[in-house]
Amino acid sequence: MRKPLIAANWKMNKTIGEALSFAGVFAERLYRRFPDKNIPVDVALFPSFLSIPALCALFANEPIHIGAQNMHWEKSGAFTGEVAPYMLKDAGCAFVILGHSERRHIFGETDEDVIKKVRAALDHGLNPVICVGETLEEREADETDRVVSRMVKAAFSVVDPEELRSVTVAYEPVWAIGTGREARPDDAEDVILGIRKTVDAIYGQDTSENLRVLYGGSVKSKNVRSFMSRESVDGVLVGGASLDPEEFFKIVDEGYKARRKFL
Ligand code: PGA
Repeated sequence: MRKPLIAANWKMNKTIGEALSFAGVFAERLYRRFPDKNIPVDVALFPSFLSIPALCALFANEPIHIGAQNMHWEKSGAFTGEVAPYMLKDAGCAFVILGHSERRHIFGETDEDVIKKVRAALDHGLNPVICVGETLEEREADETDRVVSRMVKAAFSVVDPEELRSVTVAYEPVWAIGTGREARPDDAEDVILGIRKTVDAIYGQDTSENLRVLYGGSVKSKNVRSFMSRESVDGVLVGGASLDPEEFFKIVDEGYKARRKFL
């Protein structure tokens, strides 16, 4: 069975000091709940680039993973303002979020950019969390499946079948991100089942059994169970509600309880 992943995307929030004080409170709550540190779900924090080294040092050899929110695809060179995959690996990152809707819609990232980043992440031993999702206009025009499958086909065009275990997809409807308006669990499940079908069609076999697919968009401790109790939903990517360590701990705990029956 796929191990669930519960991930905190802090976006452009928290200084190094704030990241460390979150980490102290959160780890204390988590280890009190799971005293042997045998956490039944994967937990990952995605701070700003600046806080990555401090959190990686703090959680080296601990079951709390650290990832980056973005990266460039080139190895090195004249790309002012960018961060290379090997730098993230060197700092201790295990994961990298790619193609987040804020990258796509605010910074103009394209499917082609995401393709290059996915390949670069895998080449450098980073586990990509590939975000896909439709805008409100696209949903209202009944284009959700078309848009999401286009993004999935693009990203997986450079993924070999044996690499699927390293890849996570996060289905994040753009209209649900940061709005307090989460998707209906039925709708999220439908799209996620569609993602699995698309992936199976790409590889011509039931490969999506190995692929983790998350839901993201206004997840909080009060609604995480409604998503993670669906068998096809392997976890959540949480923005706003992940900024508070108590609330994020509750999300992990509630998510795990919802998932227990499948583990
Ligand atoms: P949100 O963000 O939980 O604040 O809606 C989710 C995300 O952007 O990953």
